[in-house]
Amino acid sequence: MARVLLTGGAGYIASHTAVVLLERGHEVILLDDFSNAERDVPARLERLTGHNLPVIEADIRDSEAVSAALAAQPVAAVIHFAALKAVGESEADPLRYYDMNIIGTIRLLEAMQAGGVARIVFSSSATVYGQPDSSPIPEHAPTRVQNIYGRTKLVMEDLISDLARTGKLRAAANLRYFNPVGAHPSAMIGETPRGVPNNLMPYLTQVATGRRPCLNVFGTDYATPDGTGVRDYIHVMDLAEAHALALEHILAHDVALTVNLGTGIGISVLEMVQAFERATGRAIPLNISPRRPGDVASYYANPAMAERIFGWKARLNIEDMCRDAWRWEAAKAGINDV
Ligand code: NAD
Ligand code: WQD
Repeated sequence: MARVLLTGGAGYIASHTAVVLLERGHEVILLDDFSNAERDVPARLERLTGHNLPVIEADIRDSEAVSAALAAQPVAAVIHFAALKAVGESEADPLRYYDMNIIGTIRLLEAMQAGGVARIVFSSSATVYGQPDSSPIPEHAPTRVQNIYGRTKLVMEDLISDLARTGKLRAAANLRYFNPVGAHPSAMIGETPRGVPNNLMPYLTQVATGRRPCLNVFGTDYATPDGTGVRDYIHVMDLAEAHALALEHILAHDVALTVNLGTGIGISVLEMVQAFERATGRAIPLNISPRRPGDVASYYANPAMAERIFGWKARLNIEDMCRDAWRWEAAKAGINDV
């Protein structure tokens, strides 16, 4: 088993990954500046797992702080979650995204190199595929940057791949997530979007609590079976398990990998709404709206490589995703009849 540092460790995906890593016997250190995370996440993780996780409050751009953290508690690898991730925000403020995501990654890699840490798992995104030629999308599909956020993800991937190619990193796994949704079944941790959610699932769950009057369906005239956007939604617990397997793989092998993480199943907006209503018994009022600029009609993963290399395949289905997302939202809203 290994000690591993999770940058952005108090965030949505990292916190769920921490649970799985601890369950698999690894030791986890969280590093986060809490710019987009609730401060009680480490305490929730301790209650959920029974483990007291070391927490370092720091910005990944602060090389001294990161180097000190790595010196104080040497780790076998880093899982790099810390980033800004809102597409629209990235288009409005490119330099902030270049600074946080790209400069931040460079500073982290510098601190890792200085500290002798040569293995990394990186949170990339299917956003790098832009408008795909077709789905399912394999890893060798062309990357087409459509926005600043996607640009930063692709640059971060290239930085890591180049360091692996030149031997400065011994192992690296760039993981391209499709659409993570859901929450830990305990409803003790989950996604905490600030303000009006951009993403479908958190908006849907807020409609279900009555916090939002209806779900705006962005476009019903796409070339998809029911005209609404199709995506590859993946349960955050399946994603967390994939990270643990990717970490264990790069601890055992000197490799440089780029791997899709999705179910390989495309689900439309209307199918998601129907699944949510079935799973929760909550009716979701809809407002058919124009397409959202920048949206693509359909993308979903070819997940074969993750299965071949990591022996990983998503196990949780769309009803599991809806049930667990709803449990978390209901818990936050103080609704008990779930
Ligand atoms: P999140 O915002 O919940 O987690 C990111 C964490 O990083 C937060 O806790 C935040 O406080 C922290 N952070 C941000 N900047 C930091 C900095 N400079 N120094 C230290 N900590 C910092 O987001 P998430 O959804 O958990 O995403 C995690 C990673 O996965 C991100 O890299 C994101 O780009 C990627 N990703 C997310 C999705 C998604 O839909 N959620 C999809 C694909 C890829
Ligand atoms: C899903 C579908 C919308 C909200 C985004 C980022 C991507 C990645 C994952 C970080 C689309 C429709 C949505 C709503 C709707 N994040 N929708 N009403 O756009 O596929 O991906 O999150 O890496 O970078 O772009 O996810 O959840 O926003 O949208 O009809 O209120 O739901 O049109 O078809 P998306 P999403």
